[in-house]
Order: sequence, then C-alpha cells, then structure tokens
Amino acid sequence: MNIRDIYKGKRVFLTGHTGFKGSWLLTWLHDMGAEVKGYALAPQAGNELYHDIGGDELCTSVIADIRDADRLAREMKAFAPDFVFHLAAQPLVRLSYAIPVETFAVNAIGTAHVLEAMRQLGHPCTGVMITTDKVYENPETGVPFREDDKLGGHDPYSASKAAAEIVIASYRSSYFQSGRIAEHGISISSARAGNVIGGGDMAGDRIVPDIIRALINDRKISIRNPLATRPWEHVMEPLQGYLLLGALQHAQPGQYDTCYNFGPYPDHTKSVEVLAKGLLDRWGDDTNRIEFDRSPQPKEASLLNLDITKAGAELGWTPRLDFAETVNFTADWYRDRHLNGMDARALILRDIQKFESIA
Ligand SMILES: NC(=O)c1ccc[n+]([C@@H]2O[C@H](COP(=O)([O-])OP(=O)(O)OC[C@H]3O[C@@H](n4cnc5c(N)ncnc54)[C@H](O)[C@@H]3O)[C@@H](O)[C@H]2O)c1
Repeated sequence: MNIRDIYKGKRVFLTGHTGFKGSWLLTWLHDMGAEVKGYALAPQAGNELYHDIGGDELCTSVIADIRDADRLAREMKAFAPDFVFHLAAQPLVRLSYAIPVETFAVNAIGTAHVLEAMRQLGHPCTGVMITTDKVYENPETGVPFREDDKLGGHDPYSASKAAAEIVIASYRSSYFQSGRIAEHGISISSARAGNVIGGGDMAGDRIVPDIIRALINDRKISIRNPLATRPWEHVMEPLQGYLLLGALQHAQPGQYDTCYNFGPYPDHTKSVEVLAKGLLDRWGDDTNRIEFDRSPQPKEASLLNLDITKAGAELGWTPRLDFAETVNFTADWYRDRHLNGMDARALILRDIQKFESIA
C-alpha cells in the first residue's frame, strides 16, 4: 500500500497540531497532499516549532481548548473529515503532578470529547487516538508490554492516558463496533508509542530539549535519573505507524479497530546517559558539560519496554532507524537549524524524504 495515495486529497482533522509531534505530522500530511484542519492551543513561548515551520500556511488552524466540547464538535463537523488524528494532550509527567485534575480533564475527558464529536459527524471517518507507552501498569520487571497487558499508571499523566484508553474502548464497544461499521462508519484505533525525540522539540522538562538549550547557550547540563532507560525512537517512527494504521483502517473498515504499540526494537532501549552522550558526540561537543542530578525526583518509571510484535504482524510496521541513526537524525536537525540557520520546514521534509527512502 502506498500511504501517500491514501492521504492525497483527504481531509484530516488533527488535534495538537501546534505541538512537537503535531508539527511533524502536519508537515508530512501537507506534503502528501492532504487538506488539514488543526485544533489545539497556541504554541507555548519558547517552544514554537509550529511557527518555525510556517504552520499556518499548511492548515486551517483553530486555536481552542479540547475541553470545549461544543466548539470541538462544531469545528469537526464543519470540516467533515475523512480522518481524525488526536494528539492534543498535557503530555508531561512531572507537570502532571502539579496539575493532576487538568491533566485528567485534557487527556481523558478531552479524548471523550473527540470521540463524541466523531459520533455526531454523520459520515464515515477513521480515527487514530494517540496515547502512550505509559498506559500499562508497570511493575518495573523490564518485560516488554504487550497490548493486552493490564492498564494502569502511577503518576497522573500515565493514569490519565490509561483512562483515555478505557474511554476509547468504551466508545468502540458502545457506538463504533467493528462488526457494525457499515451502519456507523466510524473506525477507531489507539496508538501507544515510547519516548520520541527528533528535531524541533523545545518543550521544558524533556531531556533532548534540555541538552540542546545547554549546547546553544553554552551551559552545563544537569541530568536527572541518568540510569533510567527509555524506548527512544525518532518522531518519524510512530508517526509513520499512525499514518499506516489510519490508512489500513480506511482501506479495510473494521479490520484494525484496536490498539497498537509503536516502539523501537528492545535492544534500542537505552539509558538517559547514553542518549545524552550520543547527542553531544554527534554535535561535536567535547566540553564535558554533563552533571548528574542525583537528588530525589518525583517517581517516573525507570524500566519501560514495548513489545511491537502485533504492529509487525498485523500492520507490517517495523522501526526503520537504529539507535545511532535516531540520535544522528536528531542532533543533525538541531545543529542545522540552530548553528547553520537552515529552514525548519525544509529540515523536516529532508528527514521525511530520507526516512521514506529507507523503507
Ligand atoms: N513526546 C513524547 O515523547 C510522547 C511519547 C508518548 C506519547 N506522546 C503523546 O503524543 C501526543 C503529542 O505529544 P507532543 O510531544 O507533541 O506534545 P506537545 O506538548 O508538543 O504538544 C501537545 C499539543 O496538545 C495541545 N494541547 C494541550 N492542551 C490542550 C488543550 N487543553 N486543548 C487543546 N489542545 C491542547 C497543545 O497545544 C499542543 O498542540 C500527546 O498525546 C502525548 O501524550 C508523546
């Protein structure tokens, strides 16, 4: 299947289009010839990849809150989308400890609002709901999670995304049953990905943006939880998974209405320390600027792996970049943007073109 053919000329409603993954997905969809309407809050000061890529030129952008159910339903219905990709979320674990109720409202109830808006559409539509690898109850054994493992979540972010999964499953079994797709026309899946990295993310309190800010400003880097491992993957990997999943749902309605993990191969799960050193090496920085912050931190799961067998077997999806390539793509993007002044959208398109050629 040629994914580009599926999305060409289609109408795609993208929540969270002003964020990191949203900006990459918007650029990709626009490049494939899709017509995109975005729905999200304005980019946060200092984290403006969306403005950097000239996002307003690539979509009809609605700046509004996912908690405003009426506005969301109105904007979606007026657009009559063929696809909905739901990425809008409060995505930070540590922030979720400070604003737990807001995190639940945006992530769990916000997802219900998206599904409810789809229920009111009145025409066929394919939805891919983005949750996270943190939706699983994590006893920290290191055993990779499979899609039918128990949901859970210690911190409010993880719990809010697990709650979103339950909301999605409830809408599917109550309104959007696969066996009755001919009646309701709505196909819903959920996608669980790991910690994504890639050019342009400048969110506060994330390891790669923290390192890049330190490099640009010639400062020391303080790294907490250096031995914690994560399933690092380049942002293009899960995005390609979401696009493939949506395309298959669209082509064979009712066949893929379930959940999928989109993580890297297990041996690409590396510690924060290894990632940090890899980025500094590729950047060409030899100033020994890493400091390890060993002070007590709010709990974040330190062992987390995804089993990606199901996405491979059912969708034919596998990761394309190994860990070193993932780091190199990421470091090169930031270096070419911040040291060499290259255009942000052109850099994303350059990476997408290289990535697609690896297939
Ligand atoms: N970045 C990662 O490592 C990672 C890993 C797993 C899952 N995810 C998930 O992927 C999705 C995108 O994450 P990201 O890294 O691009 O995050 P981001 O913070 O860069 O973007 C979040 C987006 O959601 C929007 N948003 C936040 N609150 C909103 C609200 N109340 N109403 C409307 N829009 C709102 C923001 O405006 C932004 O467009 C999220 O659902 C996140 O949970 C991210």
